[in-house]
Amino acid sequence: MDARQMKIDAAAEALRHVENGMRLGIGTGSTAEEFVRLLAERVAEGLAVRGVPTSERTARLCLELGVPLNSLDELPELDLTIDGADEVDSRLRLIKGGGGALLREKIVAAASRRMIVIADESKVVETLGRFPLPIEVNPFGLSATRIAIERVATQLGLSGDIVQRAHNDAPFRTDGGHFILDASFGLIPDAEALANELNTIPGVVEHGLFINLASYAIIAGQAGVRTMPRADNQETDTR
Ligand code: A5P
Repeated sequence: MDARQMKIDAAAEALRHVENGMRLGIGTGSTAEEFVRLLAERVAEGLAVRGVPTSERTARLCLELGVPLNSLDELPELDLTIDGADEVDSRLRLIKGGGGALLREKIVAAASRRMIVIADESKVVETLGRFPLPIEVNPFGLSATRIAIERVATQLGLSGDIVQRAHNDAPFRTDGGHFILDASFGLIPDAEALANELNTIPGVVEHGLFINLASYAIIAGQAGVRTMPRADNQETDTR
């Protein structure tokens, strides 16, 4: 089975959690896009949902395929968010932001009663950190922010390259107009500590560590689709 089919399988399983009338957060990335395609088919058949997209890219796909959208200001409390991830550990801590949408993704997930992560098995890790951690930063004071990130990393025994993300030979800009620094710290033994420290840096707008946000992960592999509940909590109300 190829990687795309696994993404479709995870998305199809997630769709089973979508009910008529739901207010849905809709994620960003190639896996979330498979979900949008399947959701659009159900909408065409009469399923009534309202979606809040986590990026302009996702909004464009939804509009193209006829998935009704609202802004988060119009629907500030959501029933369910379905989104992909770059890494998932057994406690459903995530690294996200490979597609550059982590700020809106986190805001939408935090506004949702439940978040379901959809991924293929290559995203499941024992310890987060193989995937470089995306950190969204304000363009103002970029160098000072980078130094502050290095300092907190060092305090936690972490080190590695911090690279500013580029696109078409120019700095990558998020939907909010910010930059992204991709931090290759290697394995992160204490994700909570790093998240807390990054949260103290003024120039850090948001980081890609998603902790206590996902309720379930739906993981598709060669052997089929499995659902991972969060070890500490079967059902999470993140609001
Ligand atoms: C977008 O910013 C990311 O958080 C994505 O959810 C993540 O990169 C997963 O993307 P894929 O489904 O394309 O791997």
